[in-house]
Amino acid sequence: MCGIIGYSGKLQAANVLLEGLRNLEYRGYDSAGISLFTKSGLKTYKAQGRLSQLEALLGENLPEGQCGIGHTRWATHGAPSNVNAHPHASGSITLVHNGILENYMELKEVLLKKGRVFASQTDTEVIAQWLDEEYQQAHEPIKAIRKTLKALKGSYALGILFAEHPGVIYAVRKDSPLIIGLGQGENLIASDITAILTYTRDYLLVEENEIAMITPEQAKIYSPEGEQLVKREPCRADWDIGAAQKGGYAHFMRKEIDEQPHALEATISPRVNNGQIDFSVDHVEDAFLSNFHSVQIVACGTAMHAGMIGKHLIESLARIPVSVNIASEYRYSNPIVGKDDLVIIVSQSGETADTLAALRLAKLHGARTLAIVNVVGSSIAREAERVLYTYAGPEIAVASTKAYSVQTAMFYLLALRIAYLSGNMDTDKIFRYVEKIQAISQMVKDSLKTAPICKEIAADLVDSSDLFYIGRGLDYCLSLEGSLKLKEISYLHSEAYAAGELKHGTISLITEKVPVIAVATQSSILEKMISNMREVKARGGFVVVICQAGSNIPEDAADRVIYLPDSVKDELLAPLAAIVPLQLIAYEIASLRGCDVDKPRNLAKSVTVE
Ligand code: AGP
Repeated sequence: MCGIIGYSGKLQAANVLLEGLRNLEYRGYDSAGISLFTKSGLKTYKAQGRLSQLEALLGENLPEGQCGIGHTRWATHGAPSNVNAHPHASGSITLVHNGILENYMELKEVLLKKGRVFASQTDTEVIAQWLDEEYQQAHEPIKAIRKTLKALKGSYALGILFAEHPGVIYAVRKDSPLIIGLGQGENLIASDITAILTYTRDYLLVEENEIAMITPEQAKIYSPEGEQLVKREPCRADWDIGAAQKGGYAHFMRKEIDEQPHALEATISPRVNNGQIDFSVDHVEDAFLSNFHSVQIVACGTAMHAGMIGKHLIESLARIPVSVNIASEYRYSNPIVGKDDLVIIVSQSGETADTLAALRLAKLHGARTLAIVNVVGSSIAREAERVLYTYAGPEIAVASTKAYSVQTAMFYLLALRIAYLSGNMDTDKIFRYVEKIQAISQMVKDSLKTAPICKEIAADLVDSSDLFYIGRGLDYCLSLEGSLKLKEISYLHSEAYAAGELKHGTISLITEKVPVIAVATQSSILEKMISNMREVKARGGFVVVICQAGSNIPEDAADRVIYLPDSVKDELLAPLAAIVPLQLIAYEIASLRGCDVDKPRNLAKSVTVE
């Protein structure tokens, strides 16, 4: 969702801010703006729509100045418009905000009674005006910010300029991410690492309600209470700027699909030691993964779909009961969970508001919490008891692809270790399985060779208005993910069903040429899938099946067949191969329809509000 960038240094800030905002575009936004200190004072420029609108407003000769803040806004309070775009100003204060101020009505009423007038409908302007009130009393930025924070309820990351303090940016956060980028003679603030990578890979994390202050030469953090400075070791991002650029691809999504073999290798190899699974690099000790009654997996969207595969794997390899929970439901469900349960939280961004709230709830109940997260230092990674990082690198496209694959791979590793620790698999069995796991990267590389047939099939399907995905067991989990991928980027309606459920209602929607994508990778239930495909064909539907190499698919059961590579050595691993054609079909259909593949309408990469 919204993105923040701030710069104080030797370069022209407008250039840096615009570039930072471009690198934050993937988070999703509907307006953008910047404020900077110029020779004639603090100036603000903002525009509804894409960044190109803001660039048009700024014109060829960018305003000069070496310190400023920028923002991409994803509307929550008040429609997308020039006036609601950030930065918002009041008196000598100008600020940008990510998050949601829950008590903004209450605060606004107090301010209205004081005779204040509001220009926008945003909760953010309330913060600006409140801070202005405090600043008029305190005449000192840090004191005024600290007093203001006491009044705020909700989530926020704020970048603040005070007109009387040119060259200085103040920043503070709670439940929304914010980092300080450390450069040479320049410093930055940003809502995520991708915005600062051009300038530095060194950064400081800002903890809740600490107040940060940056100038070109200094980056200081003050503790939430009192004035003392916090000493903190910088972190170093191992992502490079190339990873966050398109590198010749038309879209990030297509590049990220191709990056899956590498991401899988990077995620799997540090956890394999002498043919066994070993999480010692992650400091996840065996005792932590032993002796629990049940596993509860909690996540949203694609991460939840990876969790569904995880359930199958842990249950079939370790024979321990697992539930999969949608985080937004879990957090309000009064879950039956306690110290004898392991709660696994899955999130690419590590900032998803519902997932974070579910983690906090599980901790409150005393459960063991383990996070599978891609973004180092994110809120979920910091708050979970243990964390297993996936090494997908930056995922820029809103539609998650490589993050899904590495989350799923992590579940293979976890399931095997838990199976060993629970006495369900011995070292010999694990050894044989690990050999297959080590071949996953090559298997996915082979699966990428389905790209040409996926493109052809996309051309067959592009004019459809409704599509269905069916599968059983693991293939049902894949169907859900394939369907989500298609609808989020192509805006075509699609639904996924457990194949046996179709005839309990949905089959009434199958008429002439309605496409049904059948995922049929499991040989033990292939015959059942073929029956379901025939049921569709008998009603005129157009069946595309994704199956193992060498599967015998009768002519009357499918119109198009996508065979997975013969390097799929174990059916339990087939999801990692089968997801590739599902991603490619969605991508090709969306491209053919001319959709904004990487930034689909209404969506944000990291959903930091409920
Ligand atoms: C998937 O393509 C979506 N972008 C979405 O479902 C995503 O997986 C979900 O919002 C969870 O995000 P997270 O992994 O960052 O928590």
